Amino acid sequence: AEKSLFFDIALLITDLLLNFAFRKAKLCYLTMKIVRTVNELKSAVGALKAEGRSVGFVPTMGALHDGHISLINRARADNDIVVASVFVNPTQFNNPDDLRTYPRTEEADCARLGDAGVDIAFLPSVEEMYPEPDTRVFKLGPVAEVMEGAMRPGHFNGVAQVVSRLFAMVGPDRAYFGEKDFQQIAVIRRMVELEGFDIDIVACPIKREADGLALSSRNVRLTPHQRDIAPNIHRILEESRDYYLVLSVDEVRRKVIDAVNAYPEMEVEYYDIVNADDMQPINEWSQCADAVGCITVYLGDVRLIDNIKYNQL
Ligand code: PAF
Repeated sequence: AEKSLFFDIALLITDLLLNFAFRKAKLCYLTMKIVRTVNELKSAVGALKAEGRSVGFVPTMGALHDGHISLINRARADNDIVVASVFVNPTQFNNPDDLRTYPRTEEADCARLGDAGVDIAFLPSVEEMYPEPDTRVFKLGPVAEVMEGAMRPGHFNGVAQVVSRLFAMVGPDRAYFGEKDFQQIAVIRRMVELEGFDIDIVACPIKREADGLALSSRNVRLTPHQRDIAPNIHRILEESRDYYLVLSVDEVRRKVIDAVNAYPEMEVEYYDIVNADDMQPINEWSQCADAVGCITVYLGDVRLIDNIKYNQL
């Protein structure tokens, strides 16, 4: 028994040293396990959980950028192991063209996940995720009825379907989501409550280009001219904070919409200032401590979203 304990400890130390050396040499992808089936995923995660390791999970739809990598870095800091998924979920696309044109860059994604120190990458097929059509309808309530929920019917139900499946498959302690999709985080928290998952939902700050444009997988579809104009969305939102408590909620709302629409290339789909806790539009600043302005803008056929917090001046 003593000998086997010695071997176990020696193996663990070798494993740790190799991992450290690979990471230092930026050869992390050599230690990352890529799995494509639920069975493989469950046995890989199960083995690590059996050793008592905590699991952080970063679900993605691929086309990875530094925003995703910041989620992975946070997950690595908080957990013993990190699982990331890459799956373009058809049930959350209410527009078939958006699904068809969504960028798919599997090879580059795997390299980035490996370099970022992900332990297990899950890349399932549609058949693997949905052997049967998912007909579940989640009672997501008011958080899912406004803004994205109103503009993209069925979108949040699709997000709830895929994220609840992924949570059940991975069984993480914590899951990481970017605040660019601010409303999505509220919807996922509601889904977690409905399904009774014991998972900590960690909201991470928006990552931006140097010129302020929020990182998004859709940015690659912008023409050079549209890309030049796009940072004005963030600039206008940022400037609108000067009017927090000075102008009324509706005046700030109108100011932002008019300023963005002043660019002939851009068209605001909605700009709503909501209570960060329940996503409901407010009329008075005094209605909540944390107000968030959420915007969706079309640049040609590229739909960009962004948001700004009005409480942290
Ligand atoms: O935010 C996304 O990329 C997706 O909505 C998510 C959470 C990975 C579910 O498909």
